[in-house]
Amino acid sequence: MRVTVSGIGYVGLVTGVALSYIGHTVTCVDINEEKINMLKNGISPIYEPGLEELMSKVRNKINFTTDYKSAYSTSDVIIIGVGTPEREDGSANLDYVNSVCEQIAESLRKNCIVVLKSTVPIGTNDEIERKLNNEVKTSIKVYVVSNPEFLSQGTAIHDTLFASRIIVGTDDKYAASVMHKLYEPLTKEPYNVPYLLTSRKSAEMIKYASNDFLALKISYINEIANLCKSLGANIEEVSKGMGLDSRIGNSFLKAGIGYGGSCFPKDTKALHWLSTINRIELKTIKACIEVNETQKLILFNQLKKDLVDLHGKTIAVLGLTFKPNTDDLRDAPSIINIVNLLNSGANVKAYDPVGINNFKKIIKKIDMNNCYNLEFYESIDDAIKDTDAVMIMTEWPNIVNYDVAKYKKLMKVPRVYDGRNCYKLESMKDIIYFSIGR
Ligand code: UDX
Repeated sequence: MRVTVSGIGYVGLVTGVALSYIGHTVTCVDINEEKINMLKNGISPIYEPGLEELMSKVRNKINFTTDYKSAYSTSDVIIIGVGTPEREDGSANLDYVNSVCEQIAESLRKNCIVVLKSTVPIGTNDEIERKLNNEVKTSIKVYVVSNPEFLSQGTAIHDTLFASRIIVGTDDKYAASVMHKLYEPLTKEPYNVPYLLTSRKSAEMIKYASNDFLALKISYINEIANLCKSLGANIEEVSKGMGLDSRIGNSFLKAGIGYGGSCFPKDTKALHWLSTINRIELKTIKACIEVNETQKLILFNQLKKDLVDLHGKTIAVLGLTFKPNTDDLRDAPSIINIVNLLNSGANVKAYDPVGINNFKKIIKKIDMNNCYNLEFYESIDDAIKDTDAVMIMTEWPNIVNYDVAKYKKLMKVPRVYDGRNCYKLESMKDIIYFSIGR
């Protein structure tokens, strides 16, 4: 099948590469020429473990181009994977989706299935199908299918090939049969991915409801963790004990410094916005968002309480990305914490194995006059040397496996604020150590 994937970010690129791996002829389209040139040379513009290796395996079956016209006009299926970032009011910004749809409308020369992978408010697929069919020639029919994505960054290839489920939202028999053909290889050995056909609106809702439920689980465990800490219980034992109940499950019960990333923050806000304008406010999601905002500042508030005045203090921040195994910094707790540290007059020494370049781009956009107090380090040893405190934001393996004796050896005062519970309490006995819910 000839497939075009539009929007070559974390979702689009992995989807395109995975579809060519299972046998389709794929063209990846993006407006960013620099990105396309990198991809043509076999280089992935994003950090995703295993992606470049898979790209090299499929290089004869995948094309990268900025020429959307010829790509769209010859496709059986066009998959839209562009971002839907949040607007200030929390709603999803559909500008990228709309501009891709305009390009599709001007390019189509035959009937086509347009698949929306981007996370969009319930009802958007209906609206897009109506608009596309109004704009294309009367002889052409466009079928819009909702097909949400559930991949996690860092494990995106596995999550796509061995997905928890494939959700296809359409009421049209022809579109359903094409979608089944597209994904058939994944429903068989060795992948055996469950395949669920639903209405378009249900498919759109499955995506939001799933992400928001996981976010809710995290905010819940973070609140329980904070209570554990003041009552003397240990959140790790509590999570383990809860997770043994298969009705609860043991995933997404890791307490920490709050969720970040490209999905949970925006999808909780978008669903809350949608519920509010429909006058059925989701109170659970509202609470989930509030808890997360507070949780992101838990280390900073403790540090301020302990050191009183941060002016002139040197603080190391270990880990910048929103989680390990990605270079993505969208809504990462590190951002607000570093901004607060700098605004309190602290000097910040930041370490991350892959996120420094993206962090520099983000901090540039924040209008701050004390950025010169921020320095970046490529080794943990250098970052923590002569510091007054360390804050851990991301559980990168080399932070988790770091020789904790070095905190005593290299820091001015061994004081560690661990937002990801990287170390056993016993191993931190000689260090002033604050962790989450323990
Ligand atoms: C998420 C969903 O998992 C995925 O299905 C969806 O398609 C996109 O959003 P992703 O954003 O890549 O994926 O990351 P995920 O691994 O889910 O983590 C999100 C955030 O939650 C991270 O900041 C992580 O540190 C935090 N988290 C996760 C916790 O704090 N505790 C947990 O137990 C799990």
